[in-house]
Amino acid sequence: MPLTLSRPELQRTANYIAGEWLRPVPGHALDVTDPATGALIAQVPDSNAADARAAVDAAHAAFAAWRKTPAKQRAQILKRWNDLVLSHQEDLGRLISREQGKPLAEGRGEVAYAASYIEWFAQEATRANGDVIPAPVPGRRMFALREPVGVVAAVTPWNFPAAMIARKIAPALAAGCTVVCKPAEDTPLTSLALVALAAEAGVPPGVLNIVTASRERTPEVVDAWLDDARVRKITFTGSTPVGKHLARRSADTLKKLSLELGGNAPFIVFEDADIEAAVDGLMIAKFRNGGQTCVCPNRVFVHEAVHDRFAALLVARVAALHVGPASDAASQIGPMINARAVEKIERHVQDAVARGARVLTGGTRLPALGANYFAPTVLAGTDATMACACEETFGPVAPLTTFANEAEVIAQANDTPFGLAAYFYSRDASRIWRVADALETGIVGVNEGALAAEAAPFGGVKDSGYGREGSVHGLDDYLHTKYVCQGQLD
Ligand code: SIN
Repeated sequence: MPLTLSRPELQRTANYIAGEWLRPVPGHALDVTDPATGALIAQVPDSNAADARAAVDAAHAAFAAWRKTPAKQRAQILKRWNDLVLSHQEDLGRLISREQGKPLAEGRGEVAYAASYIEWFAQEATRANGDVIPAPVPGRRMFALREPVGVVAAVTPWNFPAAMIARKIAPALAAGCTVVCKPAEDTPLTSLALVALAAEAGVPPGVLNIVTASRERTPEVVDAWLDDARVRKITFTGSTPVGKHLARRSADTLKKLSLELGGNAPFIVFEDADIEAAVDGLMIAKFRNGGQTCVCPNRVFVHEAVHDRFAALLVARVAALHVGPASDAASQIGPMINARAVEKIERHVQDAVARGARVLTGGTRLPALGANYFAPTVLAGTDATMACACEETFGPVAPLTTFANEAEVIAQANDTPFGLAAYFYSRDASRIWRVADALETGIVGVNEGALAAEAAPFGGVKDSGYGREGSVHGLDDYLHTKYVCQGQLD
C-alpha cells in the first residue's frame, strides 16, 4: 500500500547538511522497508565518513551565530517547530507507523509526545539562568554563567523515531548548541521529516544537520564524530554495549556524554495491591509499542498469594489484544521491527519453556500475518536463570515469577546490571516509600504504568547509562558552567 501524506514533500530521502538536501550518491543507498510486509518504502543515503565530517563542518560554522542568537528568538523558532509538528500530526504519525510498525493511534500519540519535548525546551531555553555568587572577599563580583557546549552529535533509536530525536535536538538547540544527527537505519524517514519541519520553522542552515546510514556504515559515521574534537557532546539512546563503546571512544577528546541505554525493568505486584489496577498498569507498560521500549517491564514478580488471580486477569487481556499492521485501525500490537527482533523473542520464549516455564497465552510467531509478528505472550514459572530474566526481550512477552516477601523481591529486582525503570503496585503507604527508595533505578512507577512525560527526568543508573532527558534537568547536559570573577570594584 503506498504511503499517502497530505504533504508528500515531507517524505524526504536526502541528507540535510548546511541547509541543503543532498541526494544519495548512486550505489550508496539504504533501503527503508515496511516491517509489516517487508516492502520497500524508500531509499535514503548510506552516508560515509566524508558526509559525517561535512555535517560537522556545517554545525561548527553555524555555532558562533546560533549561540549568540537571543534565547527568546531560539525559543520562538522551537515553538514554531512544535506548532508545525502538531499541525502535521497525521502525516508524521503515518510515517512513524509505516517505517516502525506501531499502530497508527500510537504513531499519532508519539507525534504529540515528541512535540511536548519541543514545546518544553522552547520554554526552558529562556530559563538557562546562571548564578551571582556572594564574593568571599571585598571588591569582587562572581558569576556562574551557563554556556552551550558546542556541536552535539545525536544518535537515535528506531523504537520512537520522532520522540527520541525531539528530546535530544530540542534541548540542544534551546541551549544554543548546533547538532549533527544520525537516526536509526530502520526508521530514518520520520527524522528527516522532523528536520524538514525544523528548517521550515526557521532553524538556520547548519544549525541542524542529519545524515542517514545503514547498520554497516553507521560505525564509520559515528567514528568520524568520535574522532572530531569539534564535536563536544554525544547523546545516544540504544544498547549498553554500544553506549560503553561510545564512552571509551570519547575519552581522547573528552566529550560530554548522555547515554540512555538498555533496561531490565522489574514490575512487582505486592499482595496488598489493587490487582485490577496492576493488570491495567502492566498492559500499558509492557505492551506499548509491542513491548519495544527501554522502560518496558522485562520481569514481572507477583506475590504468591495473588499470583493466580493476577495471571488469570492478565491472560484474558493479553489474549484479546488485536495484532495486525498499522493500516488495520483495530491493531493494538504491530509487527516487530525486523527479523533479528523476532528471533530474539522466540529464543527467549523457547529458552524459558525448556527451563520449565509454562506458556499461558501466545508463545509463537504469527506467520499468517507476516514474518515479523509475534503473539502477545504470558509465561508463568519463570526464574532468574532464564534468558528472558537476564536480557532485554524487547517484545510482547510478560514472564511471571512468584515471590514470598518484600526483601526477597527487592533483592531479585536489583539483581541486574541495569537500572532504568521499575514499577510496583501496593496500597501500603510505608511500603511504598521503602520500596521506592530500595529500587536501584532512575525511574520508579508506583501504582502507575504510564510514566513518560516531558516534565519528568528520564534516564537510568548502573548499566542503563547517565544523563537525564526532559524536565528542568534536561538542559544541563547541553550546557557547561563558566565562572567569571570581576575584581577592582572598590
Ligand atoms: C525508550 O524506550 O527509550 C523511551 C521510552 C519512553 O520515552 O517512554
